[in-house]
Amino acid sequence: MGHASLTNGLMGGVRLSSRITYGIPLLLLLVMGMVIHYYYSDDLLNDKDNTSRSTSAKIEGEVIELPSPSHRGIVLEEAILKRRSIRSYSNEPLSIEEVSQLLWSAQGITDKRRGFRSCPSAGATYPLEIYVVVRRVSGLEVGVYKYLPERHALLLIDHGGKEEELFKASFFQEWVRDSPIVLVIAANYQRTTSVYGERGIRYVHMEAGHCSQNVYLQAVSLGLGTVAVGAFDDSEVKKALKIKEEPLYLMPVGRPSSSTRS
Ligand SMILES: Cc1cc2nc3c(=O)[nH]c(=O)nc-3n(C[C@H](O)[C@H](O)[C@H](O)COP(=O)(O)O)c2cc1C
Repeated sequence: MGHASLTNGLMGGVRLSSRITYGIPLLLLLVMGMVIHYYYSDDLLNDKDNTSRSTSAKIEGEVIELPSPSHRGIVLEEAILKRRSIRSYSNEPLSIEEVSQLLWSAQGITDKRRGFRSCPSAGATYPLEIYVVVRRVSGLEVGVYKYLPERHALLLIDHGGKEEELFKASFFQEWVRDSPIVLVIAANYQRTTSVYGERGIRYVHMEAGHCSQNVYLQAVSLGLGTVAVGAFDDSEVKKALKIKEEPLYLMPVGRPSSSTRS
């Protein structure tokens, strides 16, 4: 082997080792970039949607598209500290933005790619449905609405306030009659029991607890008040709202009256 070929061989080795030295980290960076993109592309998508979507309600027939929820608010610890069951509300109406925010906290989609929501769900079976009994919300007709998480929209399912029916069904709890809205957390058990059998029943109840707590904390963050009402006649609530799912909680929401404000 001559001097030249030895040099070439050595240089080739240097080129090869420098290719390896630079090539492997570059490859790793590329793979990491792909992984990061895969995991965060939904967040980016969500943010993109949030900036492009309108901030006011758009009505399409019976479906009312809700304004995009905000992802900013008070710190969690403050919300936990301030959370209290509030049963007395002012007459002031709620805004559609506040209703949108409450619904997002209850069952909003927070991972569009997988359809995952604000609350954990056993096997992601999502048995809960949220209904809103609207009495005083600026820009919304009085009536019963179903929340459509996939569209972040409301579907008007019945007209009229239902206050007297719900008042009676809840054994005359005045806060259920007098609040601007009542959120109804209802369940289709079959979605979860078809996967987990009898045990699915407890999973559904656990999930209603997660959902209710989100609404409580979201209400605090918005300066609103709510209470989780479990005492009511199931069949009377179903009849009043004309719903098939089992009602688990009624959550009246409103602006705390001056006497209950802290
Ligand atoms: C499962 C359950 C059912 C409840 N049912 C009612 C109810 O029917 N009416 C009501 O006014 N409050 C109801 N509450 C609210 C409790 O009375 C309240 O959480 C309790 O008094 C503690 O007060 P705090 O929520 O302000 O901490 C219920 C709470 C839970 C967890």
